[in-house]
Amino acid sequence: MSKKSYIKFDDIVEDILKNQEFCSLNKEIHHGISRYEHSVKVAKKTYNICKRLKKLDYVGATRAALLHDFFKNDEISNLKAVERYKIHPYIALNNSKKYYNLNNMQIDAIVSHMFPWNLKIPKYKESWVVTIADKAVSIKEGCSTKFVLPISIFFLFIFNTIIVSR
Ligand SMILES: [Fe+2]
Ligand SMILES: [Fe+2]
Repeated sequence: MSKKSYIKFDDIVEDILKNQEFCSLNKEIHHGISRYEHSVKVAKKTYNICKRLKKLDYVGATRAALLHDFFKNDEISNLKAVERYKIHPYIALNNSKKYYNLNNMQIDAIVSHMFPWNLKIPKYKESWVVTIADKAVSIKEGCSTKFVLPISIFFLFIFNTIIVSR
């Protein structure tokens, strides 16, 4: 039986990483590193999880993961902290749409990546992977450490009941 060959991560994201506007995220601080680095980490984790789960649109999910935080700090500077959690996914979506055609799954993955904080429940398995990858990377980056355990248990539960068992 032949082993499935996957498109390489670098080939999937190459055009986005060359986009000058996206590259400017290198200057935006996010969880103590650049938003560019954070986004690449989330995209790589999404790519690896999707490949393991098989039958998922790993290409579309990886690109959506890379674009999930495509915004600059000055675009949210006039918002309160709580509003930033809810609104930045929509700003990222608008910025992404300026350069790329997105399918319904990718739109959903970007706008729902802050679940449960924005109460936008992911509709696709790929969207669940993106939000879990974002949480895993953010926790590793030292964000919200006091919420690590409850968030981890919550997402492990969701992951097992909704994604793996389907
Ligand atoms: Fe985000
Ligand atoms: Fe993020």
